[in-house]
Amino acid sequence: MSFSEHPSIRKITSQLNWGEVKHHMNEHLQDICTAEDHNKKALYLSNLLGFPLIGNGKFRFVIEVDGAAAKLPLYSAGYRDNIEERDFWGGLPGSLKPHFAPILGFDNGILLFKKAAHVSERDFHQVYKQKRITLIKKIQEVTGFIMEDLESHVQWGELKGKLVILDFSEWTV
Ligand SMILES: Nc1ncnc2c1ncn2[C@@H]1O[C@H](COP(=O)(O)OP(=O)(O)O)[C@@H](O)[C@H]1O
Ligand SMILES: [Mg+2]
Repeated sequence: MSFSEHPSIRKITSQLNWGEVKHHMNEHLQDICTAEDHNKKALYLSNLLGFPLIGNGKFRFVIEVDGAAAKLPLYSAGYRDNIEERDFWGGLPGSLKPHFAPILGFDNGILLFKKAAHVSERDFHQVYKQKRITLIKKIQEVTGFIMEDLESHVQWGELKGKLVILDFSEWTV
């Protein structure tokens, strides 16, 4: 699946500090890095770009641009995850697509998504428990992929009141 450069991605890559941010995005993840280090770096890079930080994990950080969510590498490994996520989404059958945050564009290592609302820890454990289990099972039945790393509420969002997966870079066959 190919995407042309989305105007919101161009907005990021035309920032004055883009070159400096790209340099940091290419750094390798060191074993000694802690969650606090990842969070600090995400905040630093989002400030350099001048867009609000929505969240981050170990490999990528997400900023808000034009009401959308742009996922950028925090370390070099984040490039691979963005490409894997793009290809995973591109290969999904139509019946499963509504269960994932939709991709709007990909360029310069940046993956642009529709921005989803936050799912609280409480809703994650109560309201959505059965839905999550059923969905993960359905994905495995239809695609053969076993989704991983979905054990935290931060990996899930809500779009138009429906539960969606936000981080789908980790799976096994
Ligand atoms: N489409 C989105 N809308 C809103 N928030 C998002 C979206 N995608 C990701 N996020 C937030 O950004 C965080 C980091 O993205 P994620 O893909 O989990 O990175 P990593 O691969 O490093 O774990 C997520 O845990 C989630 O809270
Ligand atoms: Mg994550």
